[in-house]
Amino acid sequence: MSSFPAGFVWGTATSSFQIEGAWLEGGKGPSIWDAFAHIPGKISDGTTADVSCDHFHRWKEDVAYMADLGLRAYRFSISWPRIQPAGRGKVNPEGIRFYAELIDALLAHGITPWVTLYHWDLPLALQLELDGWLNPALAGLYKEYAAICFEAFGDRVKHWITFNEPWVVSIMGHGQGIFAPGRMSNAEPYQVAHTILRAHGLAVREYRDRFQGVQGGRIGMANNCDWREPRTEDPVDKAAAARAVEFFLGWFGDPLYRGDYPDVMRARLGSRLPSFTSEEQAMIRGSQDFFGLNHYTTMYASHSTDRKSFTLSPFANGGISEDQDVRLSMDPDWTITNQGWGIVPWGCRKLLHWIDQRYDHPEIVLTENGCSLPDVLHGATVDDQKRIDYLHAYLSACHQAIREGVRLGGYFLWSLLDNFEWSSGYTPRFGITYVDFATGRRIPKSSAQWYSRLARTNVLPPLGTNPYRDLIGDPHESGDTR
Ligand code: GAL
Repeated sequence: MSSFPAGFVWGTATSSFQIEGAWLEGGKGPSIWDAFAHIPGKISDGTTADVSCDHFHRWKEDVAYMADLGLRAYRFSISWPRIQPAGRGKVNPEGIRFYAELIDALLAHGITPWVTLYHWDLPLALQLELDGWLNPALAGLYKEYAAICFEAFGDRVKHWITFNEPWVVSIMGHGQGIFAPGRMSNAEPYQVAHTILRAHGLAVREYRDRFQGVQGGRIGMANNCDWREPRTEDPVDKAAAARAVEFFLGWFGDPLYRGDYPDVMRARLGSRLPSFTSEEQAMIRGSQDFFGLNHYTTMYASHSTDRKSFTLSPFANGGISEDQDVRLSMDPDWTITNQGWGIVPWGCRKLLHWIDQRYDHPEIVLTENGCSLPDVLHGATVDDQKRIDYLHAYLSACHQAIREGVRLGGYFLWSLLDNFEWSSGYTPRFGITYVDFATGRRIPKSSAQWYSRLARTNVLPPLGTNPYRDLIGDPHESGDTR
């Protein structure tokens, strides 16, 4: 049995666009994702998120359900266009009321809200009028939006996440173009990330200057990173893997903790990488109170300058392989999830150590982890043992990292509900709760019961016959020197 530290936070996570529906109700303006999802061909199963889980109308049921499961924390996001339909100026009172009531209900049920201010649903007007995150002016507009939220909810919300996965906004939205706003470029991702980091810095300064002292909350970002393991012991592959993690997480983590981008990015990107002024550096350095990490999978990395092959490869490293000279690959023995992501718990443990060492032992919160599976409803149940196995193995890796000294303070399972999985629509199911999208009915999967027990007891059972039990520790230490 593995006990987690007292006070360890157990929660689930969702985002506004993926669960709320009601895309044009309650005074909300359209977002770039509303527009994107309505373009034929952008969503692989041809769906939209117009209704999705209909959480906008069913939130009371969802809160009561979480309370029944004994989950004491919930990470959700606020839709910027629900608060400011045009992205700036006028505030929508119905939007404020919706989130205020949700927050009050959570607190009344003993559930602590962890609120993300931006989970990709930019007000469409800001894209059409200003080119969205490509425009440096977005940083100031974001700060104003954030201040509206601190003002309206900060007396009750004590855990803020400024941005969810700026890597995805940059790379998938402006590099590969497969996410909104659907732009393809090898320079824009770096400009977008730069504006987001400045926006984060401004919002945090605002929070600290005007709100934090009185309200007493904490603020950070949720950055995503897969682990990159050297494919071989060859020093060039080791350097490639190190570089790949710096291009992935160091891109955001280094400015937040050290005030500037990793040297390797500056050296390779030259003028394509924007520069911070020294004032901005001082503002961004030290601007998070905890390290939010979204982590799902691992790949091997090797050095490669065969740039032509990167473009079409599924291992194109988010479209910026050519900037890194890194080729990614997987072990054919790894079990994969519905998304094709390898189940590699030791990668999670290694990444936690990487953060711990590079950023001087910060408190880390796993703000997302989970897997999508082809869940099927049998009668009134969904047996998702494979998800339980995944969670159990990843949490064992987390527990081991904690034993080794990493300060991991919480875990948010993605996701509470099956929901709209961006350009993949409703096909991947990430929830511990099955959603029948035709009726909106919620059905707890077996993983919900399993997670509920864990959250209530704070104790992880032994791995027993878990198929991933040999994938928790370092494969190199166990003699596998692939
Ligand atoms: C993250 C994202 C979530 C969810 C999850 C599963 O990148 O923040 O919104 O979609 O991945 O793919």
